[in-house]
Amino acid sequence: MPRTHISKSHTRIYYLLLYLYNLLILRPIHYLLLLHKRHILQFQPVTYHCPPPSKLCLSQLRKLPIKTLVLDLDETLIHSQHNCIIPYDFSINVKIDGIPTQFYVYKRPHLDFFLKMVSEWYYVVLFTASLETYANAIATQIDPTQKYIKKRYFRHNCSVDFTGYTKDLKIIQKDLSRIFIIDNSPTAYKGNPDNAIPIKSWYADNNDQCLLELLPILDALRFTKDVRSVLKRNIHLHSLW
Ligand SMILES: *[C@@H]1O[C@H](CO)[C@@H](O)[C@H](O)[C@H]1NC(C)=O
Repeated sequence: MPRTHISKSHTRIYYLLLYLYNLLILRPIHYLLLLHKRHILQFQPVTYHCPPPSKLCLSQLRKLPIKTLVLDLDETLIHSQHNCIIPYDFSINVKIDGIPTQFYVYKRPHLDFFLKMVSEWYYVVLFTASLETYANAIATQIDPTQKYIKKRYFRHNCSVDFTGYTKDLKIIQKDLSRIFIIDNSPTAYKGNPDNAIPIKSWYADNNDQCLLELLPILDALRFTKDVRSVLKRNIHLHSLW
């Protein structure tokens, strides 16, 4: 009887030590490694060589009114969560239903570079199904002076039905030949499927390159008369995400 008692308490001490080792040694090391990896990835030189447009392209551009690029927020440009397990880019504290709530926000890789590039080609706006207080705080962190994202639309600008929130692009631009949306949720653009570019939902993958990979098509689309002529060919992709 006493023997088992001793071995039980030994086991308990063993597990306690293991737990402490994990908490005090392994986790901080893991955290530092992740931080280091993010640091390296963030300063990786990213390039998209945008050659100066030819004369023909320029004259085409001059004939066309500027197009509007609509960007979704959550899981398209950023991901946020309540607890922080891995190093985050910034945190916000907003009142949700009157309760102060902390969100840790992660920027999708290459976000800053992406915004800088596309804002040279388009009138860029944000359209999110999230609450205004939350999304506004995040947008302000991403683009404090609204240099890149000129306008913001929120949940109260969405239409709602049993499938969820839908974003009607006509409330932003009546002429659908010159507006399109990038969104990870097909429900959001089900009313305007010819005006959408699907994108994979992003949560945490540091190696994600989706924003970078969209630059060539976005660069080209600004020269089209009607974005739908190209984007409706995308429809087969919509079910993938
Ligand atoms: C978005 O919603 C707000 C609040 O309901 C409203 O004031 C604004 O006019 C809406 N914007 C558009 C473009 O419908």
